[in-house]
Amino acid sequence: MSESPAHILLVEDDAEMRRAVERILEREGHEVTAVGDGAAALGLLAGHSYELVLTDMMLPRVDGFELLRRIRTQWPYTEVVLFTGHGTVERAVDAIKQGAYDFVEKGREDFRAFLLKTVSKAIEKQALSADLRRLLALVRAQAEERLVGNSRAMRQIRELVHQISVTDVPILIRGESGTGKEVVADLIHSLSPRAAKPFVKISCAAIPENLLESELFGYERGAFTGALTAKPGRFETAHGGSIFLDEIGEMAPSLQAKLLRVLEDGRCQRLGSTRDVHVDVRIISATNADIEQAIKEKRFRSDLYYRLNVVEIHIPQLRERREDILLLARHFLSRHAGIRATPVEGFEPEAIEGLESAAWPGNVRELENTIQRALALSHGPRLTLADVRGLALVTGAEPAIEATPPEARSSGGGWAASSDEHVIHIAVGTPLEAAEDQLIAATLKLCGNDKERAARMLGISSRTIYRRMTSGRPSDSEEGGPDAASS
Ligand SMILES: Nc1ncnc2c1ncn2[C@@H]1O[C@H](COP(=O)(O)OP(=O)(O)OP(=O)(O)O)[C@@H](O)[C@H]1O
Ligand SMILES: [Mg+2]
Repeated sequence: MSESPAHILLVEDDAEMRRAVERILEREGHEVTAVGDGAAALGLLAGHSYELVLTDMMLPRVDGFELLRRIRTQWPYTEVVLFTGHGTVERAVDAIKQGAYDFVEKGREDFRAFLLKTVSKAIEKQALSADLRRLLALVRAQAEERLVGNSRAMRQIRELVHQISVTDVPILIRGESGTGKEVVADLIHSLSPRAAKPFVKISCAAIPENLLESELFGYERGAFTGALTAKPGRFETAHGGSIFLDEIGEMAPSLQAKLLRVLEDGRCQRLGSTRDVHVDVRIISATNADIEQAIKEKRFRSDLYYRLNVVEIHIPQLRERREDILLLARHFLSRHAGIRATPVEGFEPEAIEGLESAAWPGNVRELENTIQRALALSHGPRLTLADVRGLALVTGAEPAIEATPPEARSSGGGWAASSDEHVIHIAVGTPLEAAEDQLIAATLKLCGNDKERAARMLGISSRTIYRRMTSGRPSDSEEGGPDAASS
């Protein structure tokens, strides 16, 4: 046999049959415990774990059917295979509907071979589902670790997520850009019974209306010019799992009506088709828009809104939960420590003060970027205030850490002391490409022309830097940036 030996509980009242089956299974290397009635089997199940229970249907005291029922509710990870004699085959079919793996007729000619084949398949299934459970537990633990924060707000969010993830209710996640809406959506799906099924994400803002429609609902061949083959929509792909509709506030009203239909009766139609497709999908949506205002302006359907936010999760801005900042900063420090060639120990106290008192208009995403940048820039074992202040792009918007904290000021250090090579001024209205060139040039200068390091800081490949340099931009000389880049 290919599978590893299993612990099997055999329940059979006919002593001769019991010994025969026991011998067959033991010869295959399985560890068999054999009993003569269902009550004894229940006693053993309470104290031991078995991969498989092989049981006769007709048994004294507790019969095979009742045993199966008890096992399904109390020991859901144990597989059950039934023996059937004359006249019990029909009940056995019923038993399979109740969750038995299969049945083996006692009278069949090839009983031994058939029994071994069935047992082998049942054990294989049991092993696969055990593997899946272990993997899911790992996925869940990792998803929990990815949502960092111990503020009151985050603890409440976590509790709510645990409560609602086991249900199928639609969730609307709200919060400013960068507050962690997608992280929360990931956690909801990972903790849900749908975790092993697809989690499909789609941004309603990034895709033009007609494309979004065909993405979500799919299309038949010939539905429009260019539809050479049929394609299932994201809802179909997500069947059995969840779908994340990001930036739902941006969805066009005509699509809102179709989405409402999916929510109301779990059906949608591919473009160019009149046939309904049934989809079983849990809907998680997110927005940073003012939906109430959109409803007033008739840009968003109120009936859809009420359907989508059966439960609403609001994630506060980072500056409203400053207790999370240090935890998050440390989390990102260890996550991105690999950017640096040398090890990093942590933050200087003034750096922590700076991080904790900053405004963070870009919320957690901005904090993460700041830490990444600081890691790429810094040299010392601890990140300093100057490091976390980083390279701020001053475009009229305030950088997150802009003020000199009083402590830093009085000690004579701090923001004021951090040199201007960390800052470039780019006029509002500068063409994007030119602004990028200036940023690349200034970063190269700051890195002493180390292209690898500059590329890491900018989050682009060093090839891109080479390419931009040789295409005549930002500057053919490797001296540094054009004049505009220095303030
Ligand atoms: N609580 C958190 N713990 C750990 N990382 C977080 C947390 N919140 C956000 N992040 C990180 O910050 C970044 C932004 O988070 P996310 O993409 O979930 O934000 P968002 O609210 O969806 O933003 P947007 O509205 O711009 O799409 C991600 O890299 C994410 O990993
Ligand atoms: Mg997002």
